[in-house]
Formats: sequence, structure tokens, C-alpha cells
Amino acid sequence: MTDRISVRETGTGTPLVLLHAFPLSSRMWQPQLDELPGSDGGEARVLAVDLRGFGGTGSGTDEPSLDLLADDVALLLERAGIERAVVGGLSMGGYVAMALARRHPERLSGLLLADTKATADTEQARANRERIAAAVLARDSVALLLDEQVPTPLLGPTTVAERPKLVERLRRMVEEASPQAVAWAQRAMAARPASLDVLAELAVPALVVVGEEDAITPVGDAEAMAAVIPDVVLTVIPAAGHLSSLEAPDTFNWAVRGLLERVR
Ligand code: MLT
Repeated sequence: MTDRISVRETGTGTPLVLLHAFPLSSRMWQPQLDELPGSDGGEARVLAVDLRGFGGTGSGTDEPSLDLLADDVALLLERAGIERAVVGGLSMGGYVAMALARRHPERLSGLLLADTKATADTEQARANRERIAAAVLARDSVALLLDEQVPTPLLGPTTVAERPKLVERLRRMVEEASPQAVAWAQRAMAARPASLDVLAELAVPALVVVGEEDAITPVGDAEAMAAVIPDVVLTVIPAAGHLSSLEAPDTFNWAVRGLLERVR
């Protein structure tokens, strides 16, 4: 358990918990924090969480595991007096949302899976994560991530060509990550199980969103998740890449509002 889980919060309506991608923080959800509560603030209570080691949340001393992050979210809900929430995650945040669906299904009123996948890592992907973890710790720097992931493949080619300010914002967000958190999260993601079985048993409305230009978890991964979920809407966002909530916030928020309506 980690002592304090840092959260950015806006609005007062249906609880919506948002879990960020790797190696970012709750800051990536600013367009959702700004817009989803609606003009009177009463449509959604948006809680954007800093996962362990990122943003304002401390690392703790536990061995790397996404299950711990799911337990952190369940604890956060308990402390906030929220019985059930729509829980949404993008990429790594989606893996955590699926771990939450496995371990604490009674906490969910809806599930949002954005630019993520339900399969486990291949051996090659695990080896690559260990390479990154070891390198950032050895160099005490996340510069390697900037070189390998920013602006592509984290952002889609349309965003890279048309939105230089967003590219800079992303670069600053990645720079804020600590090497320890990056290594811990890489090792936790490497150890995650497949979750298609959990999705097939899902008893709440779900939304699967993916940027059409997502090169990390492409449209096929989203289709595979949507194919097994009993009550699901799949939205493919044009001209957006892996960080679809940042790259195309209006379309992303429109899709999430649809999920909130189905839940209500
Ligand atoms: C993310 O955006 O969270 C990562 O690309 C997920 C991953 O490395 O599998």
C-alpha cells in the first residue's frame, strides 16, 4: 500500500476515475478534467489518479505489480466514499482498469478502455521492458524514453505534423517521470496477465476507444477487446494516435459522455 494517492478532481456528478498512460501522470487528463463535468459541473465527478511513483503519488516499497495499482484505486474509492465508479484507463491505465475489473468488480459501474490491449506481453516485449528499466536506473535518467517514444510512437503522425505545442507538452510530461517509477512500471507491466477472460465476464457497460493512428496498441487490439465484452461500444478516433484523449479530446470526450449516459 502507498500512503497517499494523489488525485486531480473536478465536478460533482457520476464518478469517473481516470488512469494515465506510461510514463505520464494525471496531468494527461486535463482536457477531460476541464470538459467532462459539463457547464454546470454536475455531469461527472472526474478523478484523475497519479499511479504509484508518478505525479504526486509516492513509490512505496512493494515489488512491481499492476494488481497493487488496482488495489490502490479500490482504496482511493473507499476513502472517497465512492461505492462504484466508471473506471477508465489509457494504455497502462487500461491494464490497471482491467486488473481492477478482475480484483474488485463490485467497484465498477462502467469501464472505459482507451488505446490499450487485453493480451499479455510476448517474451520479446518483456525483454525490451527489462532493457528500458535497467537502462533508466543505470543512467538515472529517462532520456532514453524521450529518444525512443517522443513524439512517435506515443503520438500519431497527424498530431506530430499539426500540433507542435502538444508535442512539447508531452515531452515535458515524460521528463517529469522518475527513473525509479519508470523501471517499476515497466516491470509491473511485464508481469501482467492476459485479461480477455475478465472482459468476457464484464457485467457493466463498456467503451473501447482507439486512435486510428495508434502504433502501440493498434485498432486490431481494440477490436479484439470489443469482440468479447458483452455490452460494448467501440469508437475509432480519426487522425489520432496512441494518446487519443490528448490528441482528439473533443471526440474522446463525446464518446465518454455516451458511456456515462449508458451507465446512468
Ligand atoms: C502506455 O502508453 O501506457 C504504454 O505504451 C503501455 C505499454 O508500454 O504497454
